[in-house]
Amino acid sequence: MRKIIGVLSGKGGTGKTTTVVNLGLAMHKLGENVVIVDGDLRNPNIGIHLGSIESYMTLHDILDREISLLEALHIHETGLRFIPAHLSLNYLNTDASKLKNILKHFDCTVLLDAPSGLDKGALAVLEAADESLIVTTPHLPDLTGCLKTIELARNMDVLIKGIVLNNICGHKHEISKKEIEAVSNTEVIHSIPCDKNIAMSIAAKMPVVERLPFSPASIAFFELASKLTGREYKKPRFLAMRRIAHKVLPKSHSFKNTEKA
Ligand SMILES: Nc1ncnc2c1ncn2[C@@H]1O[C@H](COP(=O)(O)OP(=O)(O)OP(=O)(O)O)[C@@H](O)[C@H]1O
Ligand SMILES: [Mg+2]
Repeated sequence: MRKIIGVLSGKGGTGKTTTVVNLGLAMHKLGENVVIVDGDLRNPNIGIHLGSIESYMTLHDILDREISLLEALHIHETGLRFIPAHLSLNYLNTDASKLKNILKHFDCTVLLDAPSGLDKGALAVLEAADESLIVTTPHLPDLTGCLKTIELARNMDVLIKGIVLNNICGHKHEISKKEIEAVSNTEVIHSIPCDKNIAMSIAAKMPVVERLPFSPASIAFFELASKLTGREYKKPRFLAMRRIAHKVLPKSHSFKNTEKA
């Protein structure tokens, strides 16, 4: 069944693309039929996260030249299917308003990455979306963008699945989950811890969920994927030992959705 989930935040740099890539891959690993789409047409980053920056066919070509969805559908070495966008400055004028008409042809779960801001690009993502996830960090400037995005989604009758509270470091000055839920009237569906492995994985051009499946952020993305798809994920036991074992023998200690005690 088709379900387009827009991932938005209002503010930039909150972790939308990181969430789309890793949540998408976690969903794929749990058995969900999922495609991730780079709806950030001016500053696309999904290709960078996946080590695929030289795509000839992208969402821009679908929107500008009306090539088919299949022509721009790429398959990452992890098996994750994705539609990237061109990095070049030559594609600034692409009209995002056709997104809705294009994405309705998918018959699976689509995670749609949004640009920062609340202008045309973000509105096109909301128009195309059946549901939304709103990403914020526990910091006030990001929360203000989150509140505005929630209001917009409600005005446009887009179901809000919840807030993804990202990059939690546990500092005293951070806004708590309870406070965020109270001021937004929206459930924090999941929290993703601050994890230095994310930046290292972006640099390595491989999603953290694949590269280090037992890292704190990876576990959180698998849990969120399980909540959103209803597919079972058993949080592995002996995580500290598994992290070491994965470093020693990455292939035999990679992600498996069944725990061997
Ligand atoms: N949970 C986390 N822990 C540590 N670092 C993180 C976490 N989530 C994201 N980051 C870092 O924050 C940066 C911004 O993340 P990302 O690009 O996903 O944000 P974005 O919302 O898509 O930004 P933009 O609005 O510019 O598209 C990344 O460089 C990433 O390394
Ligand atoms: Mg982004």
